[in-house]
Amino acid sequence: MEIKNVCVVGAGLMGNGIAQVCAQAGYQVAMQDIEQRFVDGGMQAIQKNLSRNVKKGKITQDAMAQILARIKPTIDLKEAASIADVVIEVIIEVLDVKKALFGKLQKIVPSHCLFFTNTSGISITELASSSDRPERFIGTHFFNPVPVMRLLELIKGYETSDETLEIAKKWGQTLDKEVIIVNEAPAFAVNRVLCPMINEAFFALGEGVASAEDIDTGMRLGCNHPIGPLALADLVGLDTLLRVMEGLQSEFGDKYIPATMIRKLVRAGHLGRKTGKGVYDYTK
Ligand code: 3HC
Repeated sequence: MEIKNVCVVGAGLMGNGIAQVCAQAGYQVAMQDIEQRFVDGGMQAIQKNLSRNVKKGKITQDAMAQILARIKPTIDLKEAASIADVVIEVIIEVLDVKKALFGKLQKIVPSHCLFFTNTSGISITELASSSDRPERFIGTHFFNPVPVMRLLELIKGYETSDETLEIAKKWGQTLDKEVIIVNEAPAFAVNRVLCPMINEAFFALGEGVASAEDIDTGMRLGCNHPIGPLALADLVGLDTLLRVMEGLQSEFGDKYIPATMIRKLVRAGHLGRKTGKGVYDYTK
């Protein structure tokens, strides 16, 4: 099966990044969200990213116009998904909301259409088994910022077919991503390692081991990480981090207990860069 038409459901941070890299790779993309302002925000982010690449001489103005022309923003799910060869779902990380969306989608899409779900940790098997096509269902885990980060984790659900895996792998490679294959497991491979490390940085901060700046500098210069774990928490969103840690805790027990400071910041609405404040203040 050849993928030509891609439907991205969700125009937020990850959704617009995925729509951008698909359009850059030559796919026709429909980017859908539930409100016009979300769709507009997604298109603005893509335009900003592409303009930056034009200024740097990485792409021409003409190429930018062609990439943008391949993306159709819409709030109409039927219009977005009716000719899709693949739907990539990139909506809120709540199992029942994702299930309900796939329930709607399966009544709209062509029968050959594949379902991809982009998630930081939700069970692919559970989501897939509630759909009408568990064998044509796979998890994708892109990394933030999507146009920059080279990795794509593909997560096989219990019933994901080898054919679906092959198609998804080839598709990921056309996006210029390095693809790794992961079996269904809580938090998959990268977040299983990454999120406990970030969580530990919050414990160290809470215990007064060092300041946030010094913990981050330590990990940047001592371990060659591009940014420190606390700055990274602000980049990925503290709500996302908390959700992944809670998922690990519920599967494996208190070895993965989330740091209290993460909960406090989430309760205060300080989710990181996206709200202007997290561990650090981005409003100044
Ligand atoms: N969108 C698109 N491009 C961006 C960008 C964005 N939001 N932010 C930065 N860039 C580009 C810049 O244009 C620049 O491109 P160039 O090399 O062509 O000039 C390049 O990235 C480097 O950017 P800057 O020079 O402005 O800044 P930095 O050198 O600090 O790099 C960074 C920014 C790439 C974000 C770097 O800090 C980094 O690699 N951070 C770690 C990111 C990371 O680990 N992401 C994974 C998070 S985990 C995750 O997503 C999983 C989830 O489930 C939890």
